[in-house]
Amino acid sequence: MSCSKLKLICFSPTRTTKQVLYAIAEGLQADELTVFDVTRQEGIPDDFDCSKDDLVIIGSPVYSGRLPSVMLERIASLKGNGVPVVSVVVYGNRAYEDALLELTDFAEAAGFKTVAGAAFIGEHSFSTSEIPLSVGRPDFADIDKAKSFGIKLAEKLAAKSFDTSSKLRVPGNTPYKERVAGEPMSPFSQENCELCGACARVCPTEAITVGSHITTDAEKCILCCACVKVCTPGARKMEAPRILKVSQFLADTCKERKEPEIFVS
Ligand SMILES: Cc1cc2nc3c(=O)[nH]c(=O)nc-3n(C[C@H](O)[C@H](O)[C@H](O)COP(=O)(O)O)c2cc1C
Repeated sequence: MSCSKLKLICFSPTRTTKQVLYAIAEGLQADELTVFDVTRQEGIPDDFDCSKDDLVIIGSPVYSGRLPSVMLERIASLKGNGVPVVSVVVYGNRAYEDALLELTDFAEAAGFKTVAGAAFIGEHSFSTSEIPLSVGRPDFADIDKAKSFGIKLAEKLAAKSFDTSSKLRVPGNTPYKERVAGEPMSPFSQENCELCGACARVCPTEAITVGSHITTDAEKCILCCACVKVCTPGARKMEAPRILKVSQFLADTCKERKEPEIFVS
């Protein structure tokens, strides 16, 4: 097992997961790199099968201690065909709870061999200048750890020293944390919106329509805040009281810096 072909599969509305995956890939130095970014529907490939000589890394953000349902729907047809997989979750410095276990279980059920996993920290999707949350993560130190993880994976692949006899053990519980459906809500665009459409172009669920003004379908919104982060004039805001309350709670209770965790078989 040496890494000739590396496939990255990610869902990453605010791009922190993608940054971590690219850093791991840099450490791995594969001969061939293919990226499937399923953040938007059009990123889902027709042929989603993995073949001999592949190493696959699947990356997802953590939403309420779980994987986003939309991510799972988008990779549902993925077939592992016995190739090694690395599961990576990225969370906003609160907790990843059952998300890494859920991703590892998904990969195993899809026919992969789960050889490694990791939980990294990203700037929280809800972070704003008023309520900053894990700002700038992954930072230099995180990226360095991700690259070192990639180097370690390459070494283990070359030495054929992964233990593929059983499923990788990672933290998490079953049954997974229950998903709680809240009131539909979404960010909104203020009067200084320039109708450039950047928000609609990054929205993973096509919840935003640009016309003479911006309309947002709160039923479709997954609260990822990609639209808020991409809005250069700062016209897009997430000010739903429940989110502001959660953000303030996180700012008060999750101040301590968490560090990446790595699990290798
Ligand atoms: C709806 C939602 C729920 C989230 N839940 C959690 C959580 O349970 N724990 C946590 O630490 N971060 C949580 N986050 C923060 C994201 O996991 C974090 O910002 C991540 O870096 C986003 O990844 P991305 O940049 O690839 O989109 C949540 C974010 C959103 C939008």
